[in-house]
Amino acid sequence: MTQWTRLAAVDELKPGDRKTEFIDDNPVLLVRTDDDYFCVADVCSHDGQPLSDGPISDNHITCTRHGARFDLANGNALCMPATEPIVAYSIQVTDDGILARLATSDDSNSQSNAIPTNDETSVSDHDANPADNSTATPGPPETTPSSESDDASADLDPTAGESGTIDAAVMLEALKEVIDPELMVNIVDLGLIYDVRHDGKDLVSVDMTLTSPACPAGPQLVQQSKMALERLDGITEAQINLVMTPPWTPERMTDDARDNLGIF
Ligand code: FES
Repeated sequence: MTQWTRLAAVDELKPGDRKTEFIDDNPVLLVRTDDDYFCVADVCSHDGQPLSDGPISDNHITCTRHGARFDLANGNALCMPATEPIVAYSIQVTDDGILARLATSDDSNSQSNAIPTNDETSVSDHDANPADNSTATPGPPETTPSSESDDASADLDPTAGESGTIDAAVMLEALKEVIDPELMVNIVDLGLIYDVRHDGKDLVSVDMTLTSPACPAGPQLVQQSKMALERLDGITEAQINLVMTPPWTPERMTDDARDNLGIF
């Protein structure tokens, strides 16, 4: 049976406070929100950055290094560049303090994850992922990739276009100038471009997605894509359509993008 480790006294953390500790020599981060305690590994699954200084919002913590976001309740990775979850621990609030341990099947029947308002104790399981992460669901929401290929641009026919139109390959090359500011990878290799169409005159339409619907870089990427295309000879207007269907998944990235992000 996995042992509980005492991380803090009951009244030690106020809402919004956090504390770093160790469980079995592994660094962990204990967080108190308004209603809950959470305990997760204090190591970003992308490249090892401690998460202890990361901003927290809606029970999600963001890595300060490259912007990966994790669900504090279960450790799941919510956006790139992280594709693997972090370990989330079960919490027990007792008279003796705040205890945590790796999630076990016993914890799944726990009653409540709320901070007791009286002397009650509770187990907070948060659906925490077990140590081996074998059942955790990493990354963005599951979806069916729009292509069986792992090459983002393979969906697009680079030679498409009737006489007088601009090749998709030329437009994709122009769009490679647009770099995601958080991931430092161009949007074509990230697999964000779903379609490019030239009407044969002076209008280009692009279907483009984001790594997550809440991506803060979205407006910037749209604007830069529009400018990159409108710099091409023969194009006076580029229309960028943000689409979220199908949702982006890491499988859309090219091998180059994976290499850049350290994903193997
Ligand atoms: S180390 Fe955390 S996102 Fe890269």
